[in-house]
Amino acid sequence: MEFTAIIDAKARHAAGCAVVGIYENADLGIAARQLDKHLDGYVAKLCAAGDFAAKLSDTLMLPLPPKSELQRVLLVGLGSRAGFGRKQYRKAVLASAQALAKTGASDAVIYLALESVTDLDVTYRARFVAEIFAAQAYKINDLKTAPQPKARRLTALHVAAADARAAKSMAEGLRIGEAVGSGVAFARDLANLPPNVCTPTYMGNRALQLAKEYSSIKAKSLDESAIKALKMGAFLAVTQGSDEPPRLIVCEYRGGKKSAAPICLIGKGITFDTGGISLKDPPAMDEMKFDMSGGAAVLGTLRAIAQLKLPLNVVVIVAACENMPSGRAVKPSDIVTSMSGQTIEILNTDAEGRLVLCDAITYSRRFKPAAVVDVATLTGACVVALGNHVSGLMSNDENLAAELQAAGLRSDDRAWRMPIGEEYVDQLKSNFADIANVGGREGGACTAASFLWKFAKDLTWAHLDVAGTAWLSGAQKSSTGRPVSLLVDYLLHSAEAR
Ligand code: BES
Ligand code: MN
Ligand code: ZN
Repeated sequence: MEFTAIIDAKARHAAGCAVVGIYENADLGIAARQLDKHLDGYVAKLCAAGDFAAKLSDTLMLPLPPKSELQRVLLVGLGSRAGFGRKQYRKAVLASAQALAKTGASDAVIYLALESVTDLDVTYRARFVAEIFAAQAYKINDLKTAPQPKARRLTALHVAAADARAAKSMAEGLRIGEAVGSGVAFARDLANLPPNVCTPTYMGNRALQLAKEYSSIKAKSLDESAIKALKMGAFLAVTQGSDEPPRLIVCEYRGGKKSAAPICLIGKGITFDTGGISLKDPPAMDEMKFDMSGGAAVLGTLRAIAQLKLPLNVVVIVAACENMPSGRAVKPSDIVTSMSGQTIEILNTDAEGRLVLCDAITYSRRFKPAAVVDVATLTGACVVALGNHVSGLMSNDENLAAELQAAGLRSDDRAWRMPIGEEYVDQLKSNFADIANVGGREGGACTAASFLWKFAKDLTWAHLDVAGTAWLSGAQKSSTGRPVSLLVDYLLHSAEAR
């Protein structure tokens, strides 16, 4: 879909559909009032007659007579005027996208960003339009054999701004939203694929492909012998039970000064997590195909920032492998030596994410990063603690934690800070090695993060546990592409701060 900002506070634009907002009690928004004049009071009359209550997310499609320049008007309920903030704005935009998808309109102009949204500037208003319309248009690349529904018709969306200044900000917002939308779709596509297709090798190939598409990206996909040469004993322990070869995917995006230290994004790329010898229960094990969502998200973020040509340097690392039981699999009580030299007693083979990540964190040191952020579907305990609405955020650096939390708020892809500390590390004591890979039931998300912290040490580091946010379950089962929006927002701000 093509997004453009236009200047039109008078609702004059000719299009397949005009999307205008109306508040409760027949209180017409800016564009609705203008349009109502051209339509001889039709809209006001409908509202007064009780045909459109304008509750938040209500929609009413009004087809116009064949001779009019405008083919349709979509009324969108904005709820109470006093309560119209960013949440309500996002809901109204989503309702518009859903209603438009059911029409034959090939282009539309949306006027909702003209309204005053108390806590949302015009750049973000436009950005969210692009992000929400892109997400609404996303279709799972499925393997259903029944005839596929026709491709959607809406191909161009104009977003109306009040004046030239606002239009300029909105154009920038749309550019960002479109890049985020593409990055999210990229991540969702990878994560939604079945694990017999989306293998570590496949993920590596997709990264190599990104490097072909964007000259600013260099990528390599290291095989098992290279991983052995790096002495990644913890990563190797996870992959050793699988017949599917592992990959260490390393991408460098150079958009900043040569001398500028990069920001390093690390993703957990377990393409299927059976639990290994500490085998998981059957219910919902299928969802463990999504255990590479962190890896998919950092690659999707990479795509977005390359598209945006952000002026900074970013390194993306994905530790990709399967976690399988077999005669060669790692066993509870096995001790391995991580790349850092620290020995790890593997007491539970299902706590594999931290094993691949600790070696990836050690590997990131060679880039002398300004900051390292790892993204992982790391613990069920994080889902118990936070549910599916916010991601867990742990960090050893107050600034980095604050930046990520703020980026999550701005992008509506929230993260909530949780603790790490020596108390949690104490739970990871082993009689036989430097550290154990599990620390009991209590505070499971925090012990997992504290395990990683022992490897990050002096690095400026943060961890995002996206176990609850990376995908939806049940009838809605699908990847969400989170936290691509948060990460792009964070990187945009880091680029501005430089
Ligand atoms: N990939 C899982 C975490 C997970 C579980 C994410 C359910 C989303 C939903 C991870 O590898 C895992 O198995 N973690 C264990 C750790 C435990 C053995 C200490 C868990 O959370 O149960
Ligand atoms: Mn596991
Ligand atoms: Zn896992």
